[in-house]
Amino acid sequence: MFAKLRHAPRFSANVLLARQTALTLRPASYQLIHTTATVFKASVQENIDYGKTFDKILIANRGEIACRVIRTCKKMGIKTVAIYSDADANSLHVKLADEAYNVGPAPTNQSYLNVPAILKAIKDSGAKAVHPGYGFLSENASFVQTLEKEGVTFIGPGEYAMGAMGDKIQSKIIAKEAGVSTIPGFNGVVRDANHALEIAHDIGYPVMLKASAGGGGKGMRIAWNDEEVISGFKIASSESMSSFGDNRLLVEKYVDNPRHIEIQLLADKHDHVVYLPERECSIQRRNQKVIEEAPSTHIDEATRKAMGEQAVALARKVGYSSAGTVEFLVDSQRNFYFLEMNTRLQVEHPITEYISGVDLVEQMIRVAAGQKLALKQEDLTINGWAIESRVYAEDPEKYLPSIGHLSKYIEPKSLKGKNEVRCDSGIVEGSEISIYYDPMICKLCTHGDTRDEAIENMKKALDSYVIKGVTHNIPLLREVVSHPRFASGNISTKFLAEEYPEGFKGHSLNPDSLSELATVAALVYAKRDIRNRAFGEHINLTELESKVPQEWDLFVNPTPTQKDQAVKVKIMRDGPVSLDSDTKFLISINNQEAVPVEASWDLESPLVNARVNSKEVSVQYLDSLPLGFKLQHYGTKFDVSVLNEAQQKYSVHMKEKPKPDMAKFLISPMPGSVVSIAVKPGDVIAEGAELAVVEAMKMQNVLRATRVGKVKKVYTQPGSSVGADEVLIEFEDDKAETK
Ligand SMILES: *[C@@H]1O[C@H](CO)[C@@H](O)[C@H](O)[C@H]1NC(C)=O
Ligand SMILES: *[C@@H]1O[C@H](CO)[C@@H](O)[C@H](O)[C@H]1NC(C)=O
Ligand SMILES: *[C@@H]1O[C@H](CO)[C@@H](O)[C@H](O)[C@H]1NC(C)=O
Ligand SMILES: *[C@@H]1O[C@H](CO)[C@@H](O)[C@H](O)[C@H]1NC(C)=O
Repeated sequence: MFAKLRHAPRFSANVLLARQTALTLRPASYQLIHTTATVFKASVQENIDYGKTFDKILIANRGEIACRVIRTCKKMGIKTVAIYSDADANSLHVKLADEAYNVGPAPTNQSYLNVPAILKAIKDSGAKAVHPGYGFLSENASFVQTLEKEGVTFIGPGEYAMGAMGDKIQSKIIAKEAGVSTIPGFNGVVRDANHALEIAHDIGYPVMLKASAGGGGKGMRIAWNDEEVISGFKIASSESMSSFGDNRLLVEKYVDNPRHIEIQLLADKHDHVVYLPERECSIQRRNQKVIEEAPSTHIDEATRKAMGEQAVALARKVGYSSAGTVEFLVDSQRNFYFLEMNTRLQVEHPITEYISGVDLVEQMIRVAAGQKLALKQEDLTINGWAIESRVYAEDPEKYLPSIGHLSKYIEPKSLKGKNEVRCDSGIVEGSEISIYYDPMICKLCTHGDTRDEAIENMKKALDSYVIKGVTHNIPLLREVVSHPRFASGNISTKFLAEEYPEGFKGHSLNPDSLSELATVAALVYAKRDIRNRAFGEHINLTELESKVPQEWDLFVNPTPTQKDQAVKVKIMRDGPVSLDSDTKFLISINNQEAVPVEASWDLESPLVNARVNSKEVSVQYLDSLPLGFKLQHYGTKFDVSVLNEAQQKYSVHMKEKPKPDMAKFLISPMPGSVVSIAVKPGDVIAEGAELAVVEAMKMQNVLRATRVGKVKKVYTQPGSSVGADEVLIEFEDDKAETK
């Protein structure tokens, strides 16, 4: 029953216990919780045949999750049926499936949500069950009902549980009835300050006070003691009356340093429910998860058990079967409160599979077929640590989706023979990231015996992940996993907002990353110089030896606009020249002591794996520039100038190219299609006026004027598709701007 999951590492219980116990507490101020208290039972029996499930399963989804489900079906000897839209005809999930059916044009409401077309594919293929993946129809109770009528099994919970948990208000009421901890609060007329104090004491500090009628975080007061409740009450109640003419107040437990921690459940149709180790998904941006890990650094054994048992109670209350997740908000004191239940397989399920060894998709299929869950609560142990990074085709600074053709695409691999890297993706080199669907490229997961090891593996995997043709968010992911606060484990859902208040701006070089980048740039320069001198001639090594210099004096600058960042690099040959990639070098930066540097780089590969003074450094070589190279370090791209002595002398006299005045153009911030244009030539527009609407990835972006102006020319029209940085509208020259 413990699936032999391709990626999941397996350890025997004794080894694990030793490894877990060997974990030492970090010196950092925040104390990580370790899982030493977990009881590791003897290893679970394997290779038990629980009988047949289904002959054929249709996967009502696309992309990585369709590929993921197909993989487990193949392992279980189940035939697979894919569905696809016109845009996905050549995609990976179609190739992996045994059969595939077109269900309509690219827009999702005409294809992946097109229930009649999907039903036809089910009938034509003879599939006996449907796995919905996540998104699309996965939480659609009427789809479940439709399948039931057709005698087809839905691989997920029953219609009742899905409906009950799908409604935010109802699910909270049911959770409360099931004994699940919900955020305590009072919503009504607070008579006076004493009444406010009474309520606050009932709830326990800290509490939040705000007008019942006000939305969002507006007019919110946080009180940590009696004094603050009294002053908070006065302000909040007068605000409530004056703004809304309503004297009702909401007093609620305030969740400080909130962390999003969720419990994975598995339940069968025979009233057996188990909880798996928790996942923490606190690294979020606008409620979108960015990085997840399992287990959580915040959860001790008692909290894990309490959360798990409450989640199980909720599942029992609604007669849940299949895989599901109960999400909680957890405060700094490990008080936890119900958020919602997701009645499907979660995006981030691979990290749970990594640390539990359980193939969740396999369990879903077995449960749907009516089999009893063979997992027992006491069998579920925690094997090491796993992290997931959601790799997206998007600009991490503007958070805008990017589309395009993956001209080069190489996924990172496990190099330690421990299956420490897992890539769940639905694409290959040459695939298109289109405007129609979620721009996720891959769920990149790494595992380690310890959290530190999982983080190190993630850094390496991100550094060696080659993605060309679309903009991607690896710079942000790499920065977060390198962040000291992330390393300390003291994270919250506010992490990104707190650490990057002005937004994320790419990796800013520090002395270490600057000298790593300078070293690799010099190495690339020297290796290319050797290759260029040998190129095209029938030259023997003796001759080459005399042609290739012994050393190069270079001026390297990863930020050419800041002249003072230039680094002086002397790179020397350490031994004879070689045309293979094994010429050895010594390198000295800013006249410091020379250190040996080697690289396996062969001038063609996009990856330069260098050993600098025995430290491993991975830098990506993206392109050559007139006076340097485009390199990627910490996920961020740098135009690194590399000048020899003569060029350096000359550069002092070179003028900076002036930037064109882009202020007079409206530029499309992303590729997409133009929905509407609100202006015509001659129009005088006010600051903030709507100019155009551009749609990409189902998101409509209203482009507004950043200043007063007069429209000179419109370059596009509704219905046209536009590229990123394409000029949409030109304005008259502004007198004020021409000084
Ligand atoms: C965790 O970080 C928050 C925000 O930076 C800080 O207020 C809090 O004191 C930290 N907690 C610990 C235990 O270091
Ligand atoms: C699909 O959605 C678009 C808008 O997003 C709408 O214009 C269109 O009518 C919908 N098509 C169907 C078949 O529902
Ligand atoms: C279920 O899917 C159908 C077909 O796409 C759609 O019309 C309906 O609104 C969906 N229901 C819910 C609850 O999402
Ligand atoms: C290499 O080339 C040089 C010059 O052409 C010649 O003198 C020398 O004999 C060659 N050496 C070998 C090993 O072929």
